[in-house]
Amino acid sequence: MGVGILGTGHYAPENVVTNKDLEKIVDTTDEWIRSRTGIEERRIAKDDEDTSDMAFEAAQIALKNADVSAADLDLILVATVTPDTPFPSVACMIQDRLGASKAAAMDVGAACAGFMYALITGKQYIEAGSYSKVLIVGVDKLSKIIDWTDRNTCVLLGDGAGAAVMGNVSEGKGILSFELGANGAGGKDLYQNEHDYLVMNGREVFKFAVRQMPQSTINVVEKAGLTKEDVDYLVPHQANIRIMEAARQRLGIDDDKMAKVIQKYGNNSSASIPIALSESINQGNINDGDIIVLVGFGGGLTWGAVALRWGK
Ligand code: ACO
Repeated sequence: MGVGILGTGHYAPENVVTNKDLEKIVDTTDEWIRSRTGIEERRIAKDDEDTSDMAFEAAQIALKNADVSAADLDLILVATVTPDTPFPSVACMIQDRLGASKAAAMDVGAACAGFMYALITGKQYIEAGSYSKVLIVGVDKLSKIIDWTDRNTCVLLGDGAGAAVMGNVSEGKGILSFELGANGAGGKDLYQNEHDYLVMNGREVFKFAVRQMPQSTINVVEKAGLTKEDVDYLVPHQANIRIMEAARQRLGIDDDKMAKVIQKYGNNSSASIPIALSESINQGNINDGDIIVLVGFGGGLTWGAVALRWGK
């Protein structure tokens, strides 16, 4: 048997902030943001909507789509760098709200690569036979740590949540290969400062991402014993359209074979990949038996990729 994704879901706050809205608060233009990043708008949560609220919404949808009851969950892993509080974890908060009383629960921190780290952690428990059903959530309320006077970062980020329920799938389906990595020396290029603001050396992160994301994509394809031609769909971290394009071009797949939601959400950190995956499924872009690659990078620095054959 394989280990795969049984169902997905996502949630984004109602409040839309456009590039034009940002022109009013920092020295930027809609044209600059679109052409340098691909972002047109993003969702920003209200003050009374915290990380766990968004995680709960996405988790409920994923459970429904997977046809799995919360009571049957063995483990909840929440990837986030913006928890409501350091403890209790967001995972514990939603364990209670979902009624997942037998599930163990913990948060996983790997910034924008967090969902990949959680996915692979979940896979290990299921493969070992320890657990049968694992809920993975990627969620961030980045607006809590955005410096709204810093045009280098505030135009890039948004709030949201994405979730997936994992379990056993039939032989040949599910996760075929993965790669996780970290380079702590690069931590200085993307971090939360003493005022709790996200700080980024955009050029350095760009250079790292444009090299790492295409490389990790190819690595998991090869590890799975596949070739680039076998890949049907790519779901990259939605940080910058130019970085996403680098991965797509290295794979040599058509434009419509890559998940692209950055224009309406911006960079949602841990939530970025599961939102893009969930939207792609809803749009009918991923079909049973397709080979898909999920790939991301983030603060840490961290990165992760997975090749999987879609379906139960
Ligand atoms: N509006 C207008 N001008 C701006 C803005 C803005 N919002 N932001 C920066 N600029 C200016 C800069 O100050 C710079 O001016 P200068 O030349 O006078 O110094 C100029 O635009 C060009 O700056 P570059 O850094 O060369 O611009 P670039 O084309 O590289 O785009 C960007 C910048 C979009 C940040 C890019 O470097 C990038 O995408 N980096 C990676 C970001 C990323 O992926 N972060 C990931 C994680 S975030 C997280 O973990 C939650």
